[in-house]
Amino acid sequence: MEVVILNSAEEVGSTVADHVESLAASKPEAVLGFATGSSPLPVYQELARRVRNGLDLSHLQGFALDEYVGLDYGHPESYHSVIEREVIEPLKLKPELIHVPAGAADDLDVSGHEYEAAIMSAGGVDLQILGIGADGHIGFNEPTSSFASRTRVKTLTKHTREANARFFSSLDEVPTHCLTQGLGTILDARKLVLVAFGESKAEAVAAAVEGPVTAICPASALQLHRFATVVIDRAAASKLRLREYYEYIVANKPR
Ligand code: GLP
Repeated sequence: MEVVILNSAEEVGSTVADHVESLAASKPEAVLGFATGSSPLPVYQELARRVRNGLDLSHLQGFALDEYVGLDYGHPESYHSVIEREVIEPLKLKPELIHVPAGAADDLDVSGHEYEAAIMSAGGVDLQILGIGADGHIGFNEPTSSFASRTRVKTLTKHTREANARFFSSLDEVPTHCLTQGLGTILDARKLVLVAFGESKAEAVAAAVEGPVTAICPASALQLHRFATVVIDRAAASKLRLREYYEYIVANKPR
């Protein structure tokens, strides 16, 4: 796994935006995987700035990782709304090319299968952007999620509901379930880029990068991927034992 340690959220945003821009340059209709949460926002903000300056991302296709179950898509905190507000509009993407799991569908098993089929028929995800929960979850794959899992309903942990309560007016309003891409779905993406900031993510990042590959830390699944990059700030890197080695590798990359 490549670990890139940077000084600020802006630098992280700009580094990951470079990955997206070069992908779009070589394959304008590439498939991007979008994460929600606050971590990828600097990436989206930097891409939006470049789009205002003329970058064209309008042919990109996209798939969000997850959606709450039991929330109207029009609710401001549904991931349908978040993706529209933070990604589709600022990046000037075509709404019909961007997909979010149908968490309000009547039959969630069917919508999970349909989501997998839609990803397949788009040709698979070229670049998946990921955040990480303080408990090591990616997407909404909570601890003990199967590494082979596909898009399905998951029960949110108390920890995740409490962490996400900041987006709602009370904890009771936070949905209890979600529809999320599985770890198997995520591992099928051709490239993974995980972003994280701050001390509160340091333990999860260390467990994901240097700990055992274990379902108790879903992000440790990244160790099984050939092209996984972790782009983090110094605070999120603070519990990595081999911090200096990662910096040395990046500084001495063969050209
Ligand atoms: C949510 C999302 C994840 C996200 C995680 C961390 O639960 N489903 O995709 O990575 O929280 O969020 P944040 O980046 O806001 O800390």
